[in-house]
Order: sequence, then structure tokens, then C-alpha cells
Amino acid sequence: MNNNPTALTVALSKGKLLAGTESLFRRAGLPFPDGEGRKLVASMDGLRFLFVKDMDVPTYVEYGVADCGVVGRDVLLETASDVYEPLDLGFGRCRLVLARPSNAGDYRRASTVRVATKYPRLTAAFFLERGLSAEVVRLAGSVELAPGLGLADCIVDVVETGRTLAENGLTAVEEVAASTARLIVNRASYHARRAEVFGLVETLRGVTA
Ligand code: PRP
Repeated sequence: MNNNPTALTVALSKGKLLAGTESLFRRAGLPFPDGEGRKLVASMDGLRFLFVKDMDVPTYVEYGVADCGVVGRDVLLETASDVYEPLDLGFGRCRLVLARPSNAGDYRRASTVRVATKYPRLTAAFFLERGLSAEVVRLAGSVELAPGLGLADCIVDVVETGRTLAENGLTAVEEVAASTARLIVNRASYHARRAEVFGLVETLRGVTA
């Protein structure tokens, strides 16, 4: 549990959502740590911030180390975490897609498709729903490299601008999920720290498009 009961603790991703989160907090007049330091915990004006990997944000919130967090819907779907999700923050819009080399044939014709991804659970479910056999190869990043190097036939990964796919000779063939940043809340904190959590939710709601 949160060992500093006076500060509401917010887990944030160190990745692509960080800039959007900072601009949202600043627009809302909420505190946000300055600078580009490497400190992973920072306290400011009654809020404590944890900076963690995006896939770990729901874990910190689910286990109550953080009361709240900001994370993409893609990550929430992958981790299937038991947290409340009271607010779509509207930024960090992206798509999780199945992509394959632009010159490749129909992936559905292969007896088993080998798919590289950072999202093994969603990928397995996607192929299962379609009655297709897939071997899922789990990677931690730079997934777009895998088809060109013969590690996989295709990938399931996040597309924002589409540049990474294009520059690696890949084309999106199907959407697996659409995503935006979400505010998530620990189930116990949602009730035990109701006034503070609702204050944060409503303040952020006020500046969310
Ligand atoms: C993400 C994602 C793609 C890229 C998509 O990677 O996995 O590689 O961004 O963005 P684009 O469509 O705008 O090109 P990230 O930068 O998080 O790094 P990673 O590959 O190491 O996970």
C-alpha cells in the first residue's frame, strides 16, 4: 500500500504519454515535476509521482502502490488489470494493428503465422477469435524489425503516425484495437480517498477535450 498516506500517488509512463500527461496536468493547474532528471519518484504540492514503464503503470495502481495512473487503453487491454477507469483523457490516440511486409501474401493462407509483438495476450486472442493458428513471439520493442530479419511473418504493434511501419516496409492490414490515454484508479483508493480522487478526476475532466 501507499506508505505516504498524505500524498495522492500517481503512476505515469516514462514513454510516449509523458509529454501529453505533463501538458494536461499543467493545463489543469495541477502540480507536475520540472526538468528532465532521472529521478523516478517526485513529490509536489500534495501529489507524489512515480515514473515507470508503460506496461507497469496498471500494476502499480492495481496493487495500491499508486492511487491513480495514466496509461494507454492498449496497455490496459493487454494487462487486463483490475482497476477503475473513470476518464478517457483524449490524448495519445493510436491504433494497435496487425501489419505485414508490404510485398507479402495473405497472412491467412499460412498454416501457422508467426507474429512478433509487445502485446502477446491481445495478439493470441485476436488470432483465436478468427480461428487462425498463430505462434506469438514476444519482444520488448523495435518490433518492426522482426519481419525483415525473418523472426516473424507479421507484427501486432502500435501505430501513431505510421512512420515506423512505412520506414520498415510494413503495411497495416487490420486494426486490433484503438487507444487513447486513460486515467485509472486503484479500487480501494477510489472509495477510501474518494474526495481527493474525485477532485483529480473532475479537474482533469475539465480540461479534457
Ligand atoms: C512505438 C510503437 C512503434 C512506434 C509507432 O514504439 O511500438 O514502434 O512507436 O509510432 P509511429 O507510428 O508514429 O511511427 P516506441 O517509440 O514506444 O518504442 P519501442 O519500439 O521501443 O517500443
